[in-house]
Amino acid sequence: MKKISFAVSMLALLVGLTVIANAAITTTKHNLSASSTNYTRSQATTSGGTSQVCVFCHTPHHALDQRFIWNHAASINTTWIWGTGSATGTSGGTVLPTNPANLPSFKCIACHDGSVAIGQVNEVFNESTGVVNSNYSIPMQGDVNASYQLTNTTYEVGVGGNMNGNHPIGIPYPGYSPYNGISTGGGVNISQFQASPTKVLLFGDPNGGIGKGIECGSCHAVHGSVNPLLLRDAITSSQLCLDCHIK
Ligand code: HEC
Ligand code: HEC
Ligand code: HEC
Ligand code: HEC
Repeated sequence: MKKISFAVSMLALLVGLTVIANAAITTTKHNLSASSTNYTRSQATTSGGTSQVCVFCHTPHHALDQRFIWNHAASINTTWIWGTGSATGTSGGTVLPTNPANLPSFKCIACHDGSVAIGQVNEVFNESTGVVNSNYSIPMQGDVNASYQLTNTTYEVGVGGNMNGNHPIGIPYPGYSPYNGISTGGGVNISQFQASPTKVLLFGDPNGGIGKGIECGSCHAVHGSVNPLLLRDAITSSQLCLDCHIK
């Protein structure tokens, strides 16, 4: 009896943990489907829109990139600059990337720099017509212009390829270098970084190397989080920052 109730409470704990770790994407701003209640979403299926959720980013076939079976058209801004002061590195001397095309973060930017339509995908099954559309722009409503590109400046990041003012990304996490062909700068104090951060995500090297790096998805959980703004940890008392920085 005791064993059963223990098992039951353990199960409840596990289920509870699962719920805490993953808030469903359907409850987030990344639910861009016609059936979402978000302001920015697909137009009705009868107007050429879609009720699908994943298709804005992933497709099971004919993906543009095998990594994450990526369905969304890439940003037109294939060169990044980090500021008018021509910053080329962090204060510790780590070089900031100017060629982001192979970075996981580049996948976020296509929508967030407003350079491509939010629904510009390689493949989508159109539920209204029963036809598989290729190279298709899903008609959108909300914070979009006539070309269905994001217009809300609050949500824009990296407009025109200008990364000035953003936390460094596409570079190695100190202690896991090199990443993206970049080594940690000699001026970086490795002892000021958590050795194995847990709540945030370090990405494997897109070039297949041994390093690990920091990307948009290190701090944000694109599919959902219990924290505001899809953050991987609470911003209260700057917990998120302290997950990596020892300060
Ligand atoms: C707004 C874009 C977007 C939508 C919508 C989206 N994803 Fe993702 N997904 C990503 C990105 C970006 C990654 C790469 C990892 C990262 O950057 O965090 C990813 C990675 C993944 C991965 C591999 C890594 C992991 O987290 O397990 C799976 C599996 C996945 N997505 C499934 C789904 C499914 C299923 C749906 C629909 C219910 C979905 N995604 C909707 C953007 C999206
Ligand atoms: C398919 C297009 C698309 C992709 C790809 C995409 N986003 Fe978004 N994202 C949006 C839209 C649209 C919004 C809502 C903007 C609005 O309503 O004005 C949004 C909102 C957000 C928000 C605000 C969430 C909130 O609760 O207020 C964050 C944070 C975010 N995205 C981060 C990311 C990150 C990080 C990635 C990559 C891992 C990513 N996005 C990839 C389209 C996208
Ligand atoms: C080091 C952690 C970190 C990284 C890396 C990061 N973000 Fe954020 N992001 C935050 C925090 C914290 C907020 C909360 C608002 C703020 O402080 O600006 C935020 C807010 C946002 C918002 C909401 C609007 C806003 O400006 O407040 C969007 C959209 C967003 N991030 C997208 C991205 C994209 C796209 C990337 C990659 C290019 C990225 N973030 C990389 C921590 C991060
Ligand atoms: C996922 C780990 C991670 C998180 C979370 C994180 N950082 Fe960082 N941060 C880094 C890395 C890695 C660097 C670059 C180290 C280097 O110079 O090589 C960095 C660099 C910085 C720098 C120095 C920038 C420069 O040009 O020298 C500042 C300031 C900073 N972070 C502040 C923050 C703040 C504030 C937060 C919370 C909003 C935060 N970080 C969250 C990993 C993280």
